Amino acid sequence: MSKDQIFELINQEEQRQKEKIGLIPSENTVSEAVSATLSSCLSNKYSEGYPDHRYYEGNQIIDQIEKLAQERIKKLFAVPYVNVQPYSGSPANAAIYFALMQPGETLLGLKLTQGGHLTHGHPKVTASGRFYNSVQFGLDSNDRVNFEEVRKLAHEHKPKVIVAGNTAYPFELDFKKFREIADEVGAWLVADISHVTGLVIGGEHLSPVPYADVIMSTTHKTFRGPRGAMIMVTKRGLERDPDLGKKIDSAIIPGLQGGPHNATTAAIAVAAGEATTKQYLAYTKQIRKNADALAEELKKQGLKLVGDGTQTHLMLIDLTEVGYGLGKQVAFAMDVAGIYANCNTVPKETCSPFYPSGIRLGTPLVTSRGMKESEMRKIAAWIARVVELVKTEELPKDKKTRASFMRDFEQRMLANKQLLEIFEEVKALTKNYPLFSW
Ligand SMILES: Cc1ncc(COP(=O)(O)O)c(C=O)c1O
Repeated sequence: MSKDQIFELINQEEQRQKEKIGLIPSENTVSEAVSATLSSCLSNKYSEGYPDHRYYEGNQIIDQIEKLAQERIKKLFAVPYVNVQPYSGSPANAAIYFALMQPGETLLGLKLTQGGHLTHGHPKVTASGRFYNSVQFGLDSNDRVNFEEVRKLAHEHKPKVIVAGNTAYPFELDFKKFREIADEVGAWLVADISHVTGLVIGGEHLSPVPYADVIMSTTHKTFRGPRGAMIMVTKRGLERDPDLGKKIDSAIIPGLQGGPHNATTAAIAVAAGEATTKQYLAYTKQIRKNADALAEELKKQGLKLVGDGTQTHLMLIDLTEVGYGLGKQVAFAMDVAGIYANCNTVPKETCSPFYPSGIRLGTPLVTSRGMKESEMRKIAAWIARVVELVKTEELPKDKKTRASFMRDFEQRMLANKQLLEIFEEVKALTKNYPLFSW
């Protein structure tokens, strides 16, 4: 093995992942087979184009691999068309918009601050918000998608594309309702199921296949594959435009990308194979059971959840009533205690996107490690202890003093005995759970 310092750092990262409890809902761990495929010789090869139509010679085997990946995904989701080449979720969404809209046409999506993704038209700073006329909807008083607002905005702005997707929205997306509205105004319906793919496969979340025209999913979240993405075109989408698949393909290359990442393509095929197994289906069910157990125990411990719970793999703790602008502090202290998640805005945010009032948690990774409901209850109790420890560390109202406050806070937390004691308890638990378990 090379003596490159990078390998020492990889060992340290592996140790960190093993010792700590990962609750970031978009993260997961992969099987040895997926991992081995990713580090195989496949990444040595250039393959611009599509199977049987490449710009380079020597793609006899790569063609078979890509075709296998396509066939497996088509069968898994019962869709007639798929592109497995997107480098990741963000370029995949860019490709879909590129295929379906002209610059300046209207895109309707969920606001980032209410659980949508940057690529769903977040204004000003993103390509989707700048190159298209982005209109954004939000949530109702129960923190559920406000379909009255979706309908009103759709009729007012006549979007070319409606994107139904979520990054920090804990409830099931009602693709049927989105479809009704899309039909009323003649819009394309794009379902971004990046977060919930595994739940869709396991029958734990409504499938977008009967309703959407185009479906995008990253492949590294609940799907439990490599970092990448796939774009599916449904029967409905092809009926509306028989060239839709070809348009998506051309948007990927030559539109936005060059050569596909062949090791990733192959690893998508491996993950798709794994997703047909009984163990994977049991895994998707356990993600939901664990999410319910975690949510219930957090509430029992006195913590408030956005929308009062979860219907998916993720949930948001709302710290607004605990103290002002506490999200960053709690997330930092949790990490010191060996439990890592991310701070996040809550729908009725009272502080700021940089210092939000929420903590986003999810169960895909801990479920891959083999943890079950009783471990979720322990994790909830640790989180509640951390919140109790830092609840007085409110964000200063004076913006100028915030950076120095955070620096001082972080130093104090790194040496906090009670947090370090929790970390020892966490390590005693995690040592019993490998990073990946069937
Ligand atoms: C719903 C959704 N779409 C798209 C993306 C973008 O994926 P990537 O980070 O792979 O670009 C994400 C990632 O968090 C996501 O949650």
